[in-house]
Amino acid sequence: MRGFLSITLVLSHLLLLTDYGFSHPLCTNMKSPFTPKTPLVFCEYNGSVCCNSTEDMQLQNQYKAMNVFELGCASLLKSILCSRCDQFSAELYRIESAPRKVPVLCNSTVSANSTQSQVTEVDFCWKAWDECQNVSILNSPFQLQGGLPLNSTSKLADIWQSKSAFCNEFSGASEAGELCFDGGPVVLNHTQNLSPPSGMCLEKIGNGSYLNMVAHPDGSNRVFLSDQPGKIWLVTVPEEGSEEPLAVDKLNPFLDLTDRVYSDTQLGMMGIAFHPNFQQNGRFFVSYNCDKVKSPECSGICSCNSEVICDPSKLDSVNGAQPCQYSSVIAEFTANGTTLQPSLATSAEPLEVRRIFTMGLPFANHHGGQILFGPEDGYLYFMMGDGGSNGDPYNFAQNKKSLLGKIIRLDINNISSAMVIAGLGQWGNYSVPGDNPFDEDKELQPEIWALGFRNPWRCSFDSERPSYFLCADVGQEQYEEVDIVTKGGNYGWRVYEGPFLYNPPTSPGGNTSASSIDSIFPVMGYNHADVNNSIGSASITGGYFYRSMTDPCMYGRYLYADLYAGGMWAGIETPTDSGNFTSTRIPISCAQDSPIKCSTEAASSLPELGYIFSFGEDNRKDVFILASSGVYRVVRPSRCNYTCSKENVTALTRPKSIPPPFNSTSRRSSNPLMELVLLILSLLLLFGSSCNL
Ligand SMILES: *[C@@H]1O[C@H](CO)[C@@H](O)[C@H](O)[C@H]1NC(C)=O
Ligand SMILES: *[C@@H]1O[C@H](CO)[C@@H](O)[C@H](O)[C@H]1NC(C)=O
Ligand SMILES: *[C@@H]1O[C@H](CO)[C@@H](O)[C@H](O)[C@H]1NC(C)=O
Ligand SMILES: *[C@@H]1O[C@H](CO)[C@@H](O)[C@H](O)[C@H]1NC(C)=O
Ligand SMILES: *[C@@H]1O[C@H](CO)[C@@H](O)[C@H](O)[C@H]1NC(C)=O
Ligand SMILES: *[C@@H]1O[C@H](CO)[C@@H](O)[C@H](O)[C@H]1NC(C)=O
Ligand SMILES: *[C@@H]1O[C@H](CO)[C@@H](O)[C@H](O)[C@H]1NC(C)=O
Ligand SMILES: *[C@@H]1O[C@H](CO)[C@@H](O)[C@H](O)[C@H]1NC(C)=O
Ligand SMILES: *[C@@H]1O[C@H](CO)[C@@H](O)[C@H](O)[C@H]1NC(C)=O
Ligand SMILES: *[C@@H]1O[C@H](CO)[C@@H](O)[C@H](O)[C@H]1NC(C)=O
Ligand SMILES: *[C@@H]1O[C@H](CO)[C@@H](O)[C@H](O)[C@H]1NC(C)=O
Ligand SMILES: *[C@@H]1O[C@H](CO)[C@@H](O)[C@H](O)[C@H]1NC(C)=O
Repeated sequence: MRGFLSITLVLSHLLLLTDYGFSHPLCTNMKSPFTPKTPLVFCEYNGSVCCNSTEDMQLQNQYKAMNVFELGCASLLKSILCSRCDQFSAELYRIESAPRKVPVLCNSTVSANSTQSQVTEVDFCWKAWDECQNVSILNSPFQLQGGLPLNSTSKLADIWQSKSAFCNEFSGASEAGELCFDGGPVVLNHTQNLSPPSGMCLEKIGNGSYLNMVAHPDGSNRVFLSDQPGKIWLVTVPEEGSEEPLAVDKLNPFLDLTDRVYSDTQLGMMGIAFHPNFQQNGRFFVSYNCDKVKSPECSGICSCNSEVICDPSKLDSVNGAQPCQYSSVIAEFTANGTTLQPSLATSAEPLEVRRIFTMGLPFANHHGGQILFGPEDGYLYFMMGDGGSNGDPYNFAQNKKSLLGKIIRLDINNISSAMVIAGLGQWGNYSVPGDNPFDEDKELQPEIWALGFRNPWRCSFDSERPSYFLCADVGQEQYEEVDIVTKGGNYGWRVYEGPFLYNPPTSPGGNTSASSIDSIFPVMGYNHADVNNSIGSASITGGYFYRSMTDPCMYGRYLYADLYAGGMWAGIETPTDSGNFTSTRIPISCAQDSPIKCSTEAASSLPELGYIFSFGEDNRKDVFILASSGVYRVVRPSRCNYTCSKENVTALTRPKSIPPPFNSTSRRSSNPLMELVLLILSLLLLFGSSCNL
């Protein structure tokens, strides 16, 4: 039964993949839009844009060089050139799918209902044809690939026979919600229902305390769970409503690295990631901390060194530890060896196949440690904090030569070429993707994808829109933030803490001025003053865009929480794809029929979660909370008496316990079709249970 369900879910997930392409504001160079220090002169775009004054002037020169004096056509060409400055230019130019020289022009979107007279005003493509068809344009942007020789003049009518031929080439209807250019800045529709869910209902399915839950790459209903001391378990997730808890076989972990992991408050096994082709190659990766005094294989270069203007002999010792006694490590392991197919593996040898990365840490805190594969690029993202202490004293997060306070992007498929690129290989075995942001900013250390983080604590890619790469970044004393992370983006720390200017207590590393950086501000977050917990402190734990239909009222919202259980939030983007989020604190409670009873705070039904370390997502897209008190799943709101009008209570009501697949009575069924169905179900069940061992 379970096997069958997971197969159908995989299929429906594959179908969803075809909807890819929607994105928050993003420029044609895949960077975030910004607010220019001086307003643009030629292009009439204000607010958040994709052009600086140099590019604005270049567009003006390009426009002049076209030599067009017919007013209608000239203003149209100007608007088309200036669409490069639109904050949605990456999507208008379809950069991720099929990049074009001109934006996709809005075409008539004639619905079955409307008459011809109703559609004319949005018909920008027709307008372009009507205004420009007979106009001679020098170096016209409307040319086919290869095009005409330089400095030649052409009319649209030279190349296209008719309006519809022209519009076939340059237009696109926005039926699927994709953007098109209609002559001015893109304006999104406000269509979202803003009313927040009435609450989040949880069930407790495990007692253990884990830092990571990663769905099995084979699409089955299995997950890998890892704990801070250094073990990974492979576990089948029971169905909601089955009343079964997670069956973690504590004595038989998938992998045990406790002998080399150094575990303490902010040290331990921090991340696990399975290669996108794990089913074929069996490769997987573990991010952990080690202590070089305890394990000789722990040695790595100290991240406090002369290249980043840091003298290790001046570092304060941490609890008596030497500077760079602890390292952050990414190591590769294999699920080969125990079985023929990696998917069937239920354990792996603790033999390191390859050291991907080792970096000595200046202090014992703030070194993130999560690893994730990018769903579209297949590169390994590694979240690294500022290296610790208080207020990033060495200003590492803004130092473009330091890997501290950064999100790093590595290619772990082409390792041999690593040494070819000068200066690489010092931290380990990997290569640098050619389109990492150092391709545009040579000052950046090549491994860097984004900078200005204090301690990125849990990032995720939206499973429906991979350009939404969200990271929660833990704040210092005022503000906890969530960022949409983009190529080369600077998220401000320690110039800013969230949206506020930050004044560091000490600064041996020197300061970065606010005017010298284009800081990207958080899209969600909360003030320390807004949390109510007994500790009187706050620390954010990032979650996921909720993409399960288990709670339809939560669908499409980004979930995050306070580590000290000071709150749970759901953020909604309005309009969709605008990057403009509003988040609401949501009540949580625990279902009374939870497989494991939740202990509740005295005199209320609030579940006693303890610390909220992390979130997890399985292949059904159900979301889990990994807390110090156990593992919780977000379930149907009605189980906690929360109302959600979209919840189909009839369809979702499942039997309290999964009935046996067949018994002597049903086996003697006289219906041959039923026999076949039962046979298939029982095979799937057997297959499923052999995977669970
Ligand atoms: C942006 O420009 C438009 C038209 O030029 C103008 O109406 C609007 O007020 C401007 N907005 C801002 C924030 O400057
Ligand atoms: C404008 O952007 C271009 C390309 O990103 C860059 O080379 C140039 O230095 C920038 N100019 C200014 C004035 O910031
Ligand atoms: C046509 O218009 C009517 C009324 O404006 C509306 O109720 C109906 O849903 C529309 N049909 C389509 C196919 O858009
Ligand atoms: C362009 O030329 C065609 C063919 O000569 C003519 O029919 C059309 O009216 C002209 N369009 C404009 C806007 O002058
Ligand atoms: C095109 O024109 C520009 C400016 O007039 C000139 O500098 C350039 O050499 C010309 N290019 C060709 C290929 O004729
Ligand atoms: C644009 O409109 C023309 C004329 O109605 C039509 O022939 C063409 O197929 C449309 N193109 C797209 C991409 O919708
Ligand atoms: C916004 O709404 C209008 C009217 O409902 C529709 O014609 C247009 O296509 C929508 N735009 C987007 C980007 O969805
Ligand atoms: C694991 O097996 C796959 C497929 O046979 C192979 O490509 C890969 O190199 C193996 N990995 C190791 C570490 O042996
Ligand atoms: C952002 O969302 C808020 C409400 O959630 C809305 O009032 C505001 O207009 C939105 N901003 C933009 C630029 O759309
Ligand atoms: C939900 O309501 C039912 C019936 O009113 C009650 O028995 C049950 O205890 C409630 N459950 C919760 C979690 O409050
Ligand atoms: C709820 O699900 C049941 C069973 O699948 C179906 O018959 C019913 O029509 C659904 N109701 C709604 C309102 O979607
Ligand atoms: C077999 O199933 C039938 C109907 O579900 C039930 O009445 C019967 O008790 C079952 N027999 C056994 C041996 O479990």
